[in-house]
Amino acid sequence: MYEHDLLIIGAGLAGLRAAVEGVRGGADVAVVTKVHPVRSHSNAAQGGINAPLTDRGDDWESHALDTIKGSDYLADQDAVEIMSREAGEAVIELEHMGVIFSRDDEGRLGTRRFGGQKVARTFFVGAITGSALLHVLYEQAIKYGLRVYEEWFVTSLIEEDGVVRGAVALDLRTGELHTIRAKAVIIAAGGAGRVFEPSTNAIICTGDGLALAWRAGAPMMDMEMVQYHPTTLARTGILMSEAARGEGAYLLNKQGDRFMETYAPEYLELASRDVVSRSEQTEINEGRGIDGNVLLDLRHLGRSFIEERLGYLQEVAVEFLGMDLANDPVPIRPGMHYIMGGIKTDVNGRTEAPGLYAAGECANVSVHGANRLGANSLLDTVVFGRRAARHALEYIKSVNGTSRDESQLEADKARLQALLDRPQGIRSAALRREMAEAMTEGIGVFRDQASMERAETAVRRARDQFANVSVQDKGKTFNMDLMFALELDYVIDCAEAICAGALARKESRGAHYRTDITQRDDENWLKHTLVYKTDEGLRVDTSPVAITKWEPVKRVY
Ligand code: FUM
Repeated sequence: MYEHDLLIIGAGLAGLRAAVEGVRGGADVAVVTKVHPVRSHSNAAQGGINAPLTDRGDDWESHALDTIKGSDYLADQDAVEIMSREAGEAVIELEHMGVIFSRDDEGRLGTRRFGGQKVARTFFVGAITGSALLHVLYEQAIKYGLRVYEEWFVTSLIEEDGVVRGAVALDLRTGELHTIRAKAVIIAAGGAGRVFEPSTNAIICTGDGLALAWRAGAPMMDMEMVQYHPTTLARTGILMSEAARGEGAYLLNKQGDRFMETYAPEYLELASRDVVSRSEQTEINEGRGIDGNVLLDLRHLGRSFIEERLGYLQEVAVEFLGMDLANDPVPIRPGMHYIMGGIKTDVNGRTEAPGLYAAGECANVSVHGANRLGANSLLDTVVFGRRAARHALEYIKSVNGTSRDESQLEADKARLQALLDRPQGIRSAALRREMAEAMTEGIGVFRDQASMERAETAVRRARDQFANVSVQDKGKTFNMDLMFALELDYVIDCAEAICAGALARKESRGAHYRTDITQRDDENWLKHTLVYKTDEGLRVDTSPVAITKWEPVKRVY
């Protein structure tokens, strides 16, 4: 049994930013993470972090409006205002902690332009921004005495009288389950990319945090809003950062045309991601693609520029396709990248489950609405990770001691043993892949009632068949087979919520583009979808969108 003031589940940017706030505030803080912190998926974030700095002639209102327009007016504007106002300080603070941002020719912090924005306000570290931030936050958290349960997998939250009071977690090294008691819990466990196949997300992105919170009674919000990134590498689905287009790369069809001139005459390749992905998919569907792809062309940027500013992309192109960005346009296509939806929180990270907070991709505060702008995800993690920790530190002052209840530990021991005892059955990997491919087919860049129902049928089948999943490795030490099976349970939860949200929303908005209902419907659907898990099954509800001063207008790029 272990005990702390504050337990954070997940050690990506949101989790570590929350942790830094907690330990610097003098609290006894622990992070539990199924991988080493610097192997968290934030590590893969490439292009940068947005911040409107006034000394660059930028202002928070301009960033807020771009974000809200990008969200197709589904973002809560009070939350966006907070993010935009706090962005500058949050980024400068990272620099002061030790992040070595790339510089411009005058030696100031350099910027590049990202999609859906007219202003170059994306600060970056080459094309490894997430990795650079993660390493600095990890080092800061350790410096202030953070306890890390590294390579521990959370199997349940502990609830007492309806209040979250810690977690049960499996130490992957020993195979033992433990109780970690806490006065408050922040979930910052990242997204759920592996609900889809392929995805730019790491294999670890299995929606664990979303499912844990959902099971504790917190609703998932706007889960139908799934982002397809416009540039993922052919065959592999690896992310080719928006930084390429931010630095001036073109998108070409098989005739060599810059087709974005047709779809987004003003913003071209830097329209919002949903618009660019739909444009590419239209080119491909109408026969102007090449083997299901279009081309990303950087040749005019020149070798030295590519190698200096986009070196990581060059490495990926060479390693995986044997292509040199300075000589060859590379084949790319839209690929599943991010979940705008997540556990519903307020602007202080509070979920509807008392004692439970959430931040980062698993949370939905909601600043991204129906479509996230590139480089706003890193910003979301640091702004709302910090806010969640600040609020949690206040909350724990009112909490008297921690839970003594060990019943969840016993229940989880029995559940895992039953899984291990199952002599034979279905392999979790095969079941996940089958469902995830059906999700991509049914809830893709374009979708309609029939395709979404096909996805839902596949998810139901996966849920039924999960009862027959077996684990072949019966050992204790690093039993990945067991962990993959437990992850699949979480993946299926997320898929259920995505299908429920998608089927509920009877309009097209942002990433949720229905070919059978092509218009946005502000009169009936300027609202969030909420999906609850109840003993009687799923319950779908809606809640209003917070509008402060930007009334919805037609979105044109
Ligand atoms: O394209 C990218 O570098 C991705 C950035 C993001 O998703 O924010």
